Amino acid sequence: MLSTLDVIEGVGVREKVRKSRLPARLDLLQSATGLFLALFMWAHMAFVASILIGKDAMYTVTKFFEGKYLFGQSYPWLVSIVVAGVLTIFIVHAALGMRKMPSSYRQYRAFRAHMRMMRHDDTSLWFVQAYTGFAMFFLGSVHLYIMLSGPDKIGPYASADRVFSGWMWPLYLLLLLAVEFHGGIGLYRLAVKWGWFEGKDPARSRARLKHVKWGITGFLLALGLLTLAAYLKIGYEHRHRVGERYPPAGITAPADPAGSAAPAAPAAPGIR
Ligand code: HEM
Repeated sequence: MLSTLDVIEGVGVREKVRKSRLPARLDLLQSATGLFLALFMWAHMAFVASILIGKDAMYTVTKFFEGKYLFGQSYPWLVSIVVAGVLTIFIVHAALGMRKMPSSYRQYRAFRAHMRMMRHDDTSLWFVQAYTGFAMFFLGSVHLYIMLSGPDKIGPYASADRVFSGWMWPLYLLLLLAVEFHGGIGLYRLAVKWGWFEGKDPARSRARLKHVKWGITGFLLALGLLTLAAYLKIGYEHRHRVGERYPPAGITAPADPAGSAAPAAPAAPGIR
């Protein structure tokens, strides 16, 4: 026997409606896509931060994702397939997130007034999450489209050229701040919502969770800023040879006969 609710609409229509499970299912989907994206970003940070180990390390990670060590040669379109998957999950998560955003200025003002009155940490955290989520609609989409359409332009020099000479660093800086705050708060809210790590004293576990959350966010922000600084440094040093690809270990790039700001001669065959 289905439970029913009587609802009186504004125009006075009395209607019997089925209690929908859809909102709960959408919440579950939002949690699942959020969890996937947060864990993906931890892995992503490890891959792009490989530049801190060295150019060869980042080159190796890049070639790994192009399938070079599995298939004996590189297929950059493999990266596009992964990006397409991440982009789909990113869009689904964003669409589900929009359900919770204030949909009018009046709602926004009411929420802000509530937040100021409550001075409740988790309510303020939610506002930061909504704000950073909104920012990533734009910042994340630009990055993902560049990765989707140019998977063959990833590498120690290619990425550094994009960050410095391609002026991607301001976007990456804002995106880094947005994704680390959003992801950190998101994982914390997931843990609270689904009762993970709750233990016998929920209030104490929640306080501990919050410390862990800020610790992880601080660590990832520091690592991300160091990584961005590394790409900027390489990009600055390489600013006169934009477009030249990084030669793997054991192969030296042809000397730049002009030694000038003019772009370098196309790389010899076998140099990627
Ligand atoms: C499969 C999907 C993705 C791929 C293949 C990818 C690839 C890359 C690569 C190669 C870089 C190094 C810089 C460059 O080459 O321009 C980078 C940097 C970055 N990506 Fe992604 N990315 C992906 C998804 C995302 C998502 C979903 C976000 C956040 C919403 C993100 C945020 C960033 C940030 C903030 C940086 C700068 C990192 C730093 O220097 O600290 N990426 N990404």
